[in-house]
Amino acid sequence: MTLLGMHFAPRFHATFFALLIFLLIGSSAGMAQDGEKLFRANCASCHKLDKKLIGPALSGVTERWESRENLVAWIKNSQEYLETSGDAYATALFEEYNGSIMPAQAVNDEDIAAILGYIENPPIAAAAPVVVGDPTTTSNDPDYSIYWLAGFIVLALILIRVLFSLSKSLKRMNAEVEGTEVKITSYFGSISKWMGNNKRASLGISIVLLVFVLVQTWYGAKGIGVYQGYAPEQPIKFSHKIHAGDNGINCVYCHHSAEKGKNAGIPSVNVCMNCHKGIEEGSLYGTEEIGKIYEAAGYNPETAAYDKPQMPIKWVRIHNLPDFAYFNHSQHVIVGEQECQTCHGEVESYDYPMKQYAELTMGWCINCHRETEVKTASNDYYSKLHQQLKEKYKDDPERKKFTVEDIGGLECAKCHY
Ligand code: HEC
Ligand code: HEC
Ligand code: HEC
Ligand code: HEC
Ligand code: HEC
Ligand code: HEC
Repeated sequence: MTLLGMHFAPRFHATFFALLIFLLIGSSAGMAQDGEKLFRANCASCHKLDKKLIGPALSGVTERWESRENLVAWIKNSQEYLETSGDAYATALFEEYNGSIMPAQAVNDEDIAAILGYIENPPIAAAAPVVVGDPTTTSNDPDYSIYWLAGFIVLALILIRVLFSLSKSLKRMNAEVEGTEVKITSYFGSISKWMGNNKRASLGISIVLLVFVLVQTWYGAKGIGVYQGYAPEQPIKFSHKIHAGDNGINCVYCHHSAEKGKNAGIPSVNVCMNCHKGIEEGSLYGTEEIGKIYEAAGYNPETAAYDKPQMPIKWVRIHNLPDFAYFNHSQHVIVGEQECQTCHGEVESYDYPMKQYAELTMGWCINCHRETEVKTASNDYYSKLHQQLKEKYKDDPERKKFTVEDIGGLECAKCHY
């Protein structure tokens, strides 16, 4: 027993550290997954880790660059970097890729850090091919945490098992030396015995396990239904940057119902044909992508006649609130005078593929309603409401501004009915 008593303390420490290490690995895998998500959403259309795609394979890229700062500047805006830095490596790379432009990326420093973290240390699962364009994989990454937990419990049990047999042979040796008989208990019997003898340690381990499970469940639950950054492949490589940015086409030229009704809507192929009857070739993809417009419109560019059957373009929907939540575009764009960019980001700078900028959670709606002032001054819609509010707050001279909250923008029934 003395021998056992002596060996329990270090053994407990070994187990405990093993647990800690597993928890650390588990949480860093969580980070790698965020990097992976960002990579898939922003970079995977052109980059793979281990293979050349449209751009170079990115494995080991941090070592190829002189400094991390330069690398980050490149990722943010490669064209600007080429112009301002005079970096010979980047210039050579650009030439090697026949001057194909890596578009400026709408990612911040944190995103880039996560992406580079993922590139440097991809989780084992990333070795499997990344399927781009399958909305089921791009939108909702599988949650590996449950496998982590299972693997971690199994490993912990194996570890205890090894320590247990070690202690058993030590016990035997001890017995041989002392010439006494020992009763050797079973594996599980001995675990429960050990737990009985080490109530504090077992309590500690249980708490660590419980916290781990709770944290993982919480993060899992929070992620459900949140598709921020979702950027599926589309049937035609339509670029907002080319249209709304470089060519300055107004958003509502294409999304004209945004000012009139609930939905902003996606333009029909006729709208594309207004211009593309004349523009047959693009600078990026030549006739390939624009040819798909003709196919959808049933248009034959050789004869300039609509002599083929039409086939609607099957755009993949990106933003999608659940049916039980009501959102109206014209109410926000016209009455509330909100810019498209407030909710959709700098769309005019987004290259293909288009992505979801905002969270679109209830918290996101509510926060904005709490903070945003209603534009009462120039708005007929409010003249009556404004009077009522003035009436209500007439004893409070400080009260001159009203947020959406004040006009009932937090009432459940405004958004759910
Ligand atoms: C539309 C295609 C495209 C997208 C999207 C894209 N890149 Fe690139 N990237 C390129 C091309 C092409 C090059 C090669 C240089 C050039 O031609 O400009 C490149 C080069 C790079 C390089 C330098 C590689 C080397 O070997 O030194 C890095 C780093 C990089 N990209 C990171 C990213 C990251 C991170 C993202 C996502 C946030 C991203 N890229 C998104 C096309 C793209
Ligand atoms: C030349 C026409 C055109 C212009 C101009 C245009 N868009 Fe689009 N937009 C489209 C098409 C086509 C799609 C569907 C394909 C896609 O998602 O990339 C789309 C998709 C979108 C989506 C995502 C729709 C979804 O599925 O959830 C948003 C948001 C959007 N546009 C906002 C804007 C904003 C904001 C502007 C102005 C800065 C703008 N668009 C300008 C044609 C246009
Ligand atoms: C108001 C005019 C206008 C409308 C409407 C318009 N486009 Fe374009 N589109 C352009 C211009 C300008 C270019 C740039 C051509 C170039 O690269 O020189 C272009 C380029 C493109 C390209 C080629 C990209 C490349 O570089 O290869 C595609 C694909 C495209 N548009 C798709 C669409 C689709 C789909 C629609 C309808 C939803 C649409 N466009 C509506 C003006 C328009
Ligand atoms: C107050 C935030 C907000 C503003 C401002 C806003 N949108 Fe949206 N937009 C949304 C939300 C939320 C959705 C998702 C709606 C849904 O799924 O029912 C959406 C969806 C869309 C879609 C997808 C198709 C659809 O109608 O559901 C397009 C396209 C779009 N917006 C374009 C625009 C354009 C263009 C503007 C500016 C004229 C604009 N949005 C302004 C929040 C906004
Ligand atoms: C960028 C800020 C912003 C965001 C984000 C936003 N709203 Fe609003 N919302 C406003 C403003 C400003 C008004 C005031 C215009 C009005 O009263 O019609 C408003 C009004 C409303 C109203 C009418 C309230 C009333 O009392 O008449 C509804 C309903 C609504 N929003 C739903 C939503 C939903 C659902 C979302 C999230 C999907 C959302 N809003 C996100 C700014 C926002
Ligand atoms: C400004 C608009 C708005 C108001 C006000 C609002 N909700 Fe929501 N609510 C939403 C949107 C949008 C979603 C969908 C969020 C998503 O899909 O993640 C949602 C989702 C929900 C859900 C589903 C669970 C979830 O979080 O996704 C419940 C339950 C809910 N709301 C209850 C309420 C109750 C109760 C109130 C009143 C106290 C309320 N909501 C007020 C916009 C609103």
